[in-house]
Amino acid sequence: MNELLIRGRVLTFLKEPEGIDDTGSYRFFEDGAVLVRNGKVADVGSYGDIARQAGDHAVIADHRPHLVLPGLIDTHLHFPQTQAIASYGAKLLEWLNTYIFVEEQKFKAPEHADFIAGRFMDELLSNGTTTAVAYCSVHAESVDAFFTAAEERNMLMIGGKVMMDRNAPDALRDTPQKGYDETKHLIGKWHGRGRAHYAISPRFAITSTPEQMEMSRALVAEHPDCYVQTHLSENRDEVAFATSLYPEAKDYTDIYARYDLLRRKTLLGHCIYLSDREISVLAETGAVGVFCPTSNLFLGSGLFDRDRFDRLGARHCVATDVGGGTSFSMLETMDEAYKILHLQGQRLSPLNSFYMMTLGNARALDLDHRIGSLHAGADADIVVLDSRAKSAMELRMQVASSLVEELFILQTMGDDRSVAEVYVAGTPMKRSKQFAGSTLQ
Ligand code: GUN
Ligand code: ZN
Repeated sequence: MNELLIRGRVLTFLKEPEGIDDTGSYRFFEDGAVLVRNGKVADVGSYGDIARQAGDHAVIADHRPHLVLPGLIDTHLHFPQTQAIASYGAKLLEWLNTYIFVEEQKFKAPEHADFIAGRFMDELLSNGTTTAVAYCSVHAESVDAFFTAAEERNMLMIGGKVMMDRNAPDALRDTPQKGYDETKHLIGKWHGRGRAHYAISPRFAITSTPEQMEMSRALVAEHPDCYVQTHLSENRDEVAFATSLYPEAKDYTDIYARYDLLRRKTLLGHCIYLSDREISVLAETGAVGVFCPTSNLFLGSGLFDRDRFDRLGARHCVATDVGGGTSFSMLETMDEAYKILHLQGQRLSPLNSFYMMTLGNARALDLDHRIGSLHAGADADIVVLDSRAKSAMELRMQVASSLVEELFILQTMGDDRSVAEVYVAGTPMKRSKQFAGSTLQ
């Protein structure tokens, strides 16, 4: 039996925190440990209790004084945009046409897709993200590259081929039939293989004809256990264009509703310009709005109104949206989330931030039985965070007096340097690995 004892200051959430100091929402062990057996969490508790359960041959990884948490989860990003982060000076539609639709054409070449997929997974891991939901390019080969790179690292990843059959360059367009056939083939090949999950991915209403939306409806009906991911109401010009293309729809949300695309496993990127009616439709269907803080600021899109989602009972989660988003770091993402909510008079407590990156996002994916918290039987995807990774952090930590304060410092000042280690199904992936530095030959 393969046993690993991960020692540190263990923090894991039980439920959504209801305030700045809701101590009932989490378990915290100042001298704690996670016992990992064959890639799964066997038990979590104080080091003394857990060490007694470990066999004589257990390997001990002592991470004190760092924090040990469930691996972070990113619910929306674009793997073909890894080299398009920091593309200057444009809002959504111009940015897509000027930079993104040019960049994504490179993924026709399988060697390019393979190269970026590997670097993409390593970038996620070095930022402590162990699960992500990603758009691939329109090319089926990009999906193979994506899931192959995830499988090589044994990561639980969700992704799919983008479908788009209009308002994009010829080289990036499929057809309703081709989008359907390729998606169907890729689901058969990847969904449920190892830790892979498939997301049916019509990019957004602007780039899909009604015929392609019909095909998306059919795919969802035939594969109800797959995810659906698309974009909704990110930018005012986008909303006007999308609704003009579907004049029979009541509003942007109704476009997706009419094709039966709204359900519990549907992730809707951005959701900024929604009416109460639309948010109520998300609440009724269980579809999830995805808050993408760094992207919404970078592309000048707008401010996500979390409190309105909560008031109307709609589900939401949080994501980087690389490459509209400017960082792979969920810590930096929550730093920007805090500021966006603060600007609107809304509070984001440090406990809530860490809940959102872990259990909250796992719940949004209906995967909380496997990831997002450290409980017996969970997959051993774990991140180790160093609150003193930079000298300015170390200085700030000298005067910190509580766990909540430490979490806020980590979120506000931390980035990939704060990720001391990351475990995927019990295997250490960061310190043990020679990172990056290579370029495509
Ligand atoms: N809407 C449609 N495609 C995209 C994309 O790639 N990024 C963002 N931010 N919004 C989109
Ligand atoms: Zn996106």
